Amino acid sequence: MWLLSAILAMAMLVSCSGENARVKTEKPPEADQTGSVAIEFAPPSPETIPGSQLGEQIRPGYLIVVNTQEYARPYVGNRLNCTNCHLDGGLNPNAASFVGLAAVYPEYRALNARANTLADRVNECFERSLNGRALPPDSSKLQAIVAYITWLSRGVPQGATLPWRGLQFIDSRRPLDPGNGKKVFANKCAFCHGSDGLGTTAAPPVWGPQSYNIAADMARVTVAAVFIKSNMPRSWGWSLLDDDAYDVAAYVNSQARPDFAEKIRDWPKGGKPADAPY
Ligand code: HEC
Ligand code: HEC
Repeated sequence: MWLLSAILAMAMLVSCSGENARVKTEKPPEADQTGSVAIEFAPPSPETIPGSQLGEQIRPGYLIVVNTQEYARPYVGNRLNCTNCHLDGGLNPNAASFVGLAAVYPEYRALNARANTLADRVNECFERSLNGRALPPDSSKLQAIVAYITWLSRGVPQGATLPWRGLQFIDSRRPLDPGNGKKVFANKCAFCHGSDGLGTTAAPPVWGPQSYNIAADMARVTVAAVFIKSNMPRSWGWSLLDDDAYDVAAYVNSQARPDFAEKIRDWPKGGKPADAPY
């Protein structure tokens, strides 16, 4: 269990890290003498969702996150569930955790050049990561997901900097080598994801028509590399070399996957990341 300190940032709507992926480039900030607060990564367990009326709003949100296929089927366009990437129902601090997010939204994103609510951000993953469509703003399913994330964020002060947010940063010191990535995939990934990348009963697809689309965060090589490094093979996170994680990410993301017609509207005011694949 980690105790992490973080600066309580001023309630800024505009964040300079409003990019797709919040890849960590620095150590967590040190607490200062004045407006600092220690934030512990201590989310409640889903087993403790209360039986109250509030709990009745939260529980469906949890169920959608862990079984999106069943509980939000009409909005999903591939074979993925939120928890396939936001591991352990969004509770895993190495996999773009949901913990604390209610305290940092709304947030400006260069992707659409406006302030995004937490519900907007959830819908972005529905449209891209799940290759589906956005839920209507008054949808009880959307409200349930937001209620679940808000419940996971309790005790985190509004505007706090979350040391565990996003994905752990890793670097590659040489040009990408998708040929090596292909070998890494065959040796370390195909066993679960299938040699054709289309998934098996043991693991979801990583490319092909049932995978995330080209406008998803995971379609960026830096994002996939850090996710893979810290979490894959599943249960053996941190076992790959950084260069191998980058190469296998480049190989996976060079394979065919669904397009996203609305991509032409992205980054209307600039700020497109260098590794965006379009
Ligand atoms: C032991 C089986 C196993 C191995 C080996 C494995 N994975 Fe996974 N992978 C999984 C499972 C299971 C999930 C979904 C996690 C969950 O739902 O908890 C997953 C999720 C993923 C995801 C995000 C979801 C998706 O399908 O897009 C990516 C990307 C991924 N793995 C890439 C890799 C890569 C690259 C390797 C090789 C370095 C690898 N995995 C090795 C089991 C495995
Ligand atoms: C294919 C993998 C994948 C799937 C499936 C997926 N996401 Fe995401 N999601 C990501 C990645 C990668 C990010 C970017 C993380 C970052 O900013 O560092 C992200 C970001 C987010 C964020 C913002 C995180 C932050 O720190 O601001 C939210 C909220 C979110 N996703 C919710 C969801 C929900 C809810 C679902 C299911 C309906 C879902 N996602 C499905 C990969 C996925």
